[in-house]
Amino acid sequence: MKIHLKIWRQDSANVQGKMVDYDLDNLSPDMSFLEMLDYLNEQLAAKGERTVEFDHDCREGICGQCALVINGQPHGPEDHYTTCQTHLRTFKDGDTIYIEPFRAKAFPVIRDLKVDRGSFDRIIQAGGYISAMTGRAPEANSIPVHHHIAESAFDSAACIGCGACVAACKNSSAALFTSAKISHLVKLPQGQVERSERVVMMVNQHDDEGFGSCTHTGECAAVCPQEVGLDNIARMNSEYNKAVCALDQ
Ligand code: FES
Repeated sequence: MKIHLKIWRQDSANVQGKMVDYDLDNLSPDMSFLEMLDYLNEQLAAKGERTVEFDHDCREGICGQCALVINGQPHGPEDHYTTCQTHLRTFKDGDTIYIEPFRAKAFPVIRDLKVDRGSFDRIIQAGGYISAMTGRAPEANSIPVHHHIAESAFDSAACIGCGACVAACKNSSAALFTSAKISHLVKLPQGQVERSERVVMMVNQHDDEGFGSCTHTGECAAVCPQEVGLDNIARMNSEYNKAVCALDQ
């Protein structure tokens, strides 16, 4: 199949970028989206041109590195798929595909399609640690956790930190990401000791990084490849208000 690409090219964070046109032929519908970019880069390298830079790692939908906006939608047109799991059979022969980086003040472009998502690392870092008894590893069943709570905590922990929620949000809010990271510890007994401090530190770091506020449009959950739910944001807001009141006393 043939595909016409319009790709955002930008030499560095401090220079103006622009969309550049590329035509690709002899593509298999079974190629992954990233394999198509590999194929393009092989052609650019053979011509001595600078290749298109983009993030990727696992290519299995679990690391969250493949952060691209495809035809205006983070991770492309397929619901709840990552870019690396998207295949060319999703598109039609002769299609024009627009590829851009995730755009947010807190995700500055490094080059082309690569953005710096260090702000996510700093939000997690702000969450600190959990207190645990030192000494021998505790017996695995010494802290009973109800099955539905364990499953719910696992659903929150499924967030892969790709940043699609931020890219989709009109406010560039990272509320879904931050709330998922807060929720999975709030739900478990191991997260109780630092519960109040953690939520305040993480929400404050979210704001300090330049992410916007959540206005509950829900676009974040609609594009999340892991289907992390909006209930996490409601829980974060509730936890934050309780924590601020408790810490004030
Ligand atoms: S490359 Fe790891 S999720 Fe896409």
